[in-house]
Amino acid sequence: MKTVVIIGAGFTGLPMAHKLLIYTVPKLKDGLKVVLVSPNSHFYWNLAATRGVIPGAISDDELFIPIASAFSQYSANNFEVVLGKADRLEPGANTVHVVCNDGTQRGISYDHLVIASGSSIRNGLPFKTLDTYEATLTALHSLQNKIKNATSIVIAGAGPTGIETAGELAAVYGNKKQITLLDSNDRVLLGSGVLHSVSETVEKDLQKLGVKVIHNAKVQTVNENPEGGQATVQLSNGTVLAADLYIPLFGVQVNTNWLPPALLDESGNVKLDSYMRVEGTVNIWGIGDVGNLEPKQITNTDQQIIHLAETLDADLTGEEVTKVYKPLDKTRIFVSLGKSYGTGQMGTWKVWGWTVNYIKGRKIFVDSAPGYVGGKALRHTSM
Ligand SMILES: Cc1cc2nc3c(=O)[nH]c(=O)nc-3n(C[C@H](O)[C@H](O)[C@H](O)COP(=O)(O)OP(=O)(O)OC[C@H]3O[C@@H](n4cnc5c(N)ncnc54)[C@H](O)[C@@H]3O)c2cc1C
Ligand SMILES: *[C@@H]1O[C@H](CO)[C@@H](O)[C@H](O)[C@H]1NC(C)=O
Ligand SMILES: *[C@@H]1O[C@H](CO)[C@@H](O)[C@H](O)[C@H]1NC(C)=O
Repeated sequence: MKTVVIIGAGFTGLPMAHKLLIYTVPKLKDGLKVVLVSPNSHFYWNLAATRGVIPGAISDDELFIPIASAFSQYSANNFEVVLGKADRLEPGANTVHVVCNDGTQRGISYDHLVIASGSSIRNGLPFKTLDTYEATLTALHSLQNKIKNATSIVIAGAGPTGIETAGELAAVYGNKKQITLLDSNDRVLLGSGVLHSVSETVEKDLQKLGVKVIHNAKVQTVNENPEGGQATVQLSNGTVLAADLYIPLFGVQVNTNWLPPALLDESGNVKLDSYMRVEGTVNIWGIGDVGNLEPKQITNTDQQIIHLAETLDADLTGEEVTKVYKPLDKTRIFVSLGKSYGTGQMGTWKVWGWTVNYIKGRKIFVDSAPGYVGGKALRHTSM
């Protein structure tokens, strides 16, 4: 019996488990067990969090999908979910140590380990899963209440999450709430490497929606009054802004602090070779946001999942691993600002707003979440 342990049940770890269970398990005479380690019992469709923070916009059941029932079709001999967090890796002993949600500790041995622990948003806001499903849900409801109550909101960070959140809020509340977006650069989405014309379109749309964008604004200190009342945000040049609510949405943090530093680059990303294998190891692999191969987006994760599933299938069935992974070196991004405004880029082409509205803006893909989590389909192709 071989064991593949997958750390993290997010956008890459969860479909990896389905792939192995569907395609590789039936090929192995001596059996294969897939162990999925996840602190959260539910999958969070965080792509829609930018709209989900608005009270009543998307139901909890659409945003959070139970993981256990999404795997009920597989035999317990082949699959186990361990509710807990990987805490330490001992590569020499092929063992990963997990702190379970119930407080117990467990060492799990593996033949192959897949690191899919993804990334978090700094400041612990519920735009990604927090430690558990319950904690994420509580934080989301609390943020929804604060948004409902606030008449002025300052959002810091003009990356995709910051601009989408500003746009969604403005689209729903119009001039009932004053939305300000702080951009640390001289144009929005600069960090995503988009064309000038894409930044300009986004900025015009934000303006039409009534969002006030402030460029070259670096946040220095923030004072939030825990008893309610206004927060103050001081910029590095001394200007002070006051708002009922401050939402910092900059800075992605990779969830790799449980790994030996030797496996990481200076930014904390897992160092992967051209097979998606962790450099210097034989049976440890990395996928999704933790890796150092591609932008931290799901635009390319379908091909990562397909590649790694084929590689593990080959290795487990006794074939040689020869296929090299080719990162997609094209900018691909769709941003939606409410249901009526959006834009995007495919390679060097700017994408029409109505296309983005049709594909993404209507529902932010929540309608495809049950199929994705249930192992029926990847994002753009069948399972
Ligand atoms: C608000 C928002 C909107 C986004 N919208 C888009 C979009 O429209 N298009 C796009 O391309 N990208 C988007 N992204 C980025 C996208 O969410 C990520 O690229 C994607 O989630 C990465 O998938 P992943 O599997 O690597 O990690 P994640 O989805 O982050 O999953 C990692 C999982 O690992 C778990 N975990 C963490 N640490 C441990 C541990 N120690 N042990 C066990 N489990 C652990 C976490 O709980 C989590 O469930 C968005 C991001 C945000 C925040
Ligand atoms: C500080 O920077 C902000 C953002 O660029 C600008 O709006 C403001 O006028 C500046 N204030 C001072 C005192 O220079
Ligand atoms: C609602 O907002 C007002 C200020 O606009 C603040 O004084 C009050 O404490 C807030 N209440 C809650 C529950 O956040």
